[in-house]
Amino acid sequence: MQLQNQTALVTGAGQGIGRAIALRFAAEGADIAIADLNMDTAQATAEDIRQRGRRAFVHHTDVSDYDQVQALVAATVEALGKIDILVNNAGIGKGQRFLEVSKENWQRHINIHLSGSFYCAQAAAREMAKQEYGRIVNIASVAGLMGPINLAPYGAAKAGIIGLTRSAALDLADSGITVNAIAPGPIETELLKTWPPQALRERAQHMPIARLGQVEEIAHAALFLASPDSSFITGTVLVVDGGGVAAGSYMVEKYRQRKQHDKE
Ligand SMILES: NC(=O)c1ccc[n+]([C@@H]2O[C@H](COP(=O)([O-])OP(=O)(O)OC[C@H]3O[C@@H](n4cnc5c(N)ncnc54)[C@H](O)[C@@H]3O)[C@@H](O)[C@H]2O)c1
Repeated sequence: MQLQNQTALVTGAGQGIGRAIALRFAAEGADIAIADLNMDTAQATAEDIRQRGRRAFVHHTDVSDYDQVQALVAATVEALGKIDILVNNAGIGKGQRFLEVSKENWQRHINIHLSGSFYCAQAAAREMAKQEYGRIVNIASVAGLMGPINLAPYGAAKAGIIGLTRSAALDLADSGITVNAIAPGPIETELLKTWPPQALRERAQHMPIARLGQVEEIAHAALFLASPDSSFITGTVLVVDGGGVAAGSYMVEKYRQRKQHDKE
């Protein structure tokens, strides 16, 4: 039980990676606040947490709205007493070719990912600072480390989250709060279902570990960064991507070798 008697706020925990993180944290003894736009999925996650014997609190929140985030944090403290852990996970991903990116698409990505992460981090950190302890885990992406294709708003917002992680880590260190990011590679969730199946299969074949990641694999990493054990780690980016970033442009060579091997 690594998070016994702790309280975690997880944004976007109605489904996908956020849901897996919320369930993993609950299994480790944490009470969970869920902030999401979709109340049906958020309530379903909350029900699963209660079945694990932990308290769950659901708040309808658009993380890109400053006032809604202030209300979320106040309501979480009222319902669960404190916030020890924040996971900034809520997000969207809409591909568009660079020359066609609309102003709305650009602003929505920046507002949800980057502004939303800042609003939540600042409001939660104000609570964490009172107890001189906190863990903030930002879900970035390999798209914030490498140039994604047809995802300029997403890639820019995720790179911004990595910058935010570093500066928040410095500013909050004296308050006992660590701030780290996770950069997942392709993980099997609804977010990826917009990709054609063949493109997804080929994407997996390019990776050193030739498959898509599973949500539980991100939850394991989030648990480590959210736990007291990670006390000397702050301002880092933990890449959880099956080796894709390590391979860089050699991913193409890996794919070519696999194809060659299949033919032989
Ligand atoms: N799936 C991947 O391959 C992958 C890879 C790298 C990073 N990520 C990141 O992981 C995070 C979770 O992605 P996922 O794949 O689980 O996606 P998902 O679409 O399955 O889940 C996203 C959740 O966020 C919620 N959400 C969206 N906009 C919101 C808003 N404005 N306010 C509150 N909640 C909102 C949705 O309702 C949903 O419950 C995102 O930040 C995403 O960018 C995903």
